[in-house]
Amino acid sequence: MERTFAMIKPDATARGLSGRILSRIEEEGFEVLGMKIVHMSKAQAEGFYAVHRERPFFGDLTTFMSSGRTVVLALERTDAIRHWRDVMGATNPAEAAPGTIRAEFGESIERNSTHGSDAPDTAAFELGYWFPGAELPAAQ
Ligand code: RTP
Ligand code: MG
Repeated sequence: MERTFAMIKPDATARGLSGRILSRIEEEGFEVLGMKIVHMSKAQAEGFYAVHRERPFFGDLTTFMSSGRTVVLALERTDAIRHWRDVMGATNPAEAAPGTIRAEFGESIERNSTHGSDAPDTAAFELGYWFPGAELPAAQ
């Protein structure tokens, strides 16, 4: 079993897509270990995306991510990190494979509906960022 961190981004919550995306998550065999709705501050978004602070899109991204409600999720499954990224599809919805969440719901490379950790170390950081302390069950 592996854990990953996922988000339903503000473009998707604003269009009432949270339920459909959560259904897809459960259909894909993920167990939802943690879930909450967060309207993050700009500072929280900057801390979460600190790895991207030198990127040209950092300012726009953190403004977007703090612009509305987000669903933050702790997910567990075998091969969770890779499987969730496969289900999301490519970062740019125009390049995402048919049937992926970003192909179905994404509006642009920035407003691409969902987030997923890209490696075990980033998953650990991101899970701890939004689910600190003992909020999640201990790993088996
Ligand atoms: P994520 O972290 O959200 O799961 O997405 P990702 O790994 O596929 O993409 P990443 O390179 O980590 O970028 C993080 C988020 O920044 C926005 N972005 N905007 N304007 C742009 O060129 C651009 N590139 C990336 C997207 O919201 C992306 O998901
Ligand atoms: Mg990423």
